[in-house]
Amino acid sequence: MYLTRDEERILDGEQGPSKKKAMELLVALGDIYKAERLISIASAQVSGASFKTIGEAGIKWLEGMSMDARATVPAMVNPLGLDMKRWRSMGISPEFHSRQERIIAAYEAMGLLPVYSCTPYLTAHKPRSGQHIAWAESSATVFANSVIGARTNREGGPSALAAAIIGKTAEYGLHLDENRVPRVQIKLEHVPEELTPIAGYLTGKIAGNRIPMVTGFRMTKDQHKSFGAAVAATGAVSMYAFEAKGGADKHGDQSYEETVEIGVSDLNRCADELKGGEEFDLVAIGCPHCSTDELREMAGRLKGKKPRGNADVWFCTSREAYAACPEAVSVLRGFGQVLCDTCMVVAPIEELYRSTATNSGKAMMYLPSLGRQKASFRTTDELLEAISR
Ligand code: F3S
Repeated sequence: MYLTRDEERILDGEQGPSKKKAMELLVALGDIYKAERLISIASAQVSGASFKTIGEAGIKWLEGMSMDARATVPAMVNPLGLDMKRWRSMGISPEFHSRQERIIAAYEAMGLLPVYSCTPYLTAHKPRSGQHIAWAESSATVFANSVIGARTNREGGPSALAAAIIGKTAEYGLHLDENRVPRVQIKLEHVPEELTPIAGYLTGKIAGNRIPMVTGFRMTKDQHKSFGAAVAATGAVSMYAFEAKGGADKHGDQSYEETVEIGVSDLNRCADELKGGEEFDLVAIGCPHCSTDELREMAGRLKGKKPRGNADVWFCTSREAYAACPEAVSVLRGFGQVLCDTCMVVAPIEELYRSTATNSGKAMMYLPSLGRQKASFRTTDELLEAISR
């Protein structure tokens, strides 16, 4: 891969050992994927922020990097293992909290923004169409590529941090036009809104590592959020194309390797298969993090009702969305906890609960493995009915 003189100097260690390490990582990736050069990025989003997912080894690596490395572009962080303010009421142990604090301190020492969310694109940190970025969270990369038209590969935590430090990434994969072409058509017609995550769940399974072109299904921004998260969880793909004004890249006439129709009966069958048991000790909503619209809509439906059932309830959102709608948050808090900075997958949920009901296609993929949960899919309506009367 071609390096400029300045990039070579960083690689030679002239700007310190952490920058050298970051550059080595980018160059290694560039060589593996046959990139020709590094390109500047507008922002980075770094995963690997929960003590549960990175452990002691991860803390040591971050602390080592934080000795002399600093982010050179705006960089956000994925959710932590706890809500920084309400970790005690979540049931998080002081030991977990103290380790989590070290991770936060390392990221903040490196100048990363204290934005611990998987939905930075809903806030001031939204990239622009055509911008190159280096984001790690799979649900955020798929939204950025597909809905915004920005360009990012699904980075790993270390490579996203390296990109944040250098301000560049290797030019390969979804940064290049030729790799942003859909190869499979998914016809989705008459999808009931509440089964959007299931539509994404099935689309990802069919697409595998091919970019799908989704036809016949117009989605709102929030539907794209839950659809894309599920696509990226069940498939190995960080982008889909769709027919809509202002959508992803233009694709023109083209033939697909395969066309697959997903009908309402397929969606209902899949939702039934994911239904799981009738009993759960946690209801978890907000994967990806709830938007302000979603918080307000749920609060509107719950206002005037009383809480019901024995299950704990988590509404997971970003700290920015939480601050933007205090009235909705106050209604939702009558039914459970409104948590920021964290989520049901990266929090140590396995130490707190055994069975979880969720409206998220992505969480249905990860709760059984990462959270050791018996997971049950329910629509948002069903969850709100289960927790209110
Ligand atoms: Fe976000 Fe956690 Fe889901 S990071 S996409 S809420 S698994």
